[in-house]
Amino acid sequence: VTSAVLRDVHGRVVALDTARWHARATPEEDDVLADVRGPVIDLGCGPGRIVVTLASRRVPALGVDASPTAAALARSNGAAVLERDLFDRLPGEGRWATVLLFDGNIGIGGDPARLLARCRRLLASDGRVIAEVDPPGTGIEVLRARVEAAGRRSPPFPWALVGVEAIGAAAEEARLAVEAVHRTPSGRYFAHLAGARP
Ligand SMILES: C[S@@+](CC[C@H](N)C(=O)[O-])C[C@H]1O[C@@H](n2cnc3c(N)ncnc32)[C@H](O)[C@@H]1O
Repeated sequence: VTSAVLRDVHGRVVALDTARWHARATPEEDDVLADVRGPVIDLGCGPGRIVVTLASRRVPALGVDASPTAAALARSNGAAVLERDLFDRLPGEGRWATVLLFDGNIGIGGDPARLLARCRRLLASDGRVIAEVDPPGTGIEVLRARVEAAGRRSPPFPWALVGVEAIGAAAEEARLAVEAVHRTPSGRYFAHLAGARP
């Protein structure tokens, strides 16, 4: 596993835990996923560890990742995966019981409200989004970032960081509401979002 960092164009570095992506789901993630309802769609699934974990529990799960490398890895790890941009058309729109955005993926696209609105369109009417967010005090930070690994830099792409205190406002814009926030013993935060009442 090569180590990688996400660096915004102003030089700020956000650590990337690439070793975690290639490992199994952690016991804390197992806890977060304990009573998840299927079918589950894991957006930005990387090498597919969450999809594999869910499938081993007989929870139907599909990973989506725009990166051919990530999708190929996920496939070789035994995950059902679609190599596609999550903003493109996906199967089962409006029918997923759970949409996952784990490990910083709330940042995809650099506009959390737009991303959550995309998740909302994927959800069944009684579905849930589980989005990992950053610790309190982060607010919403929009970055132009590059991934740097093995001496190479990706082209810059839009990304965002969302603190737990800021997820409610972004969710509201997407007609979602925060139902619960789960803080793991190591200090990771997972927000559970459901469709807001009209
Ligand atoms: C933080 S990594 C994934 C980690 C993975 N969720 C985990 O917990 O193991 C982010 C992933 O999102 C994918 N990604 C970024 N933008 C995407 C998009 N627009 N559509 C689909 N996947 C995307 C990247 O290719 C990358 O594999």
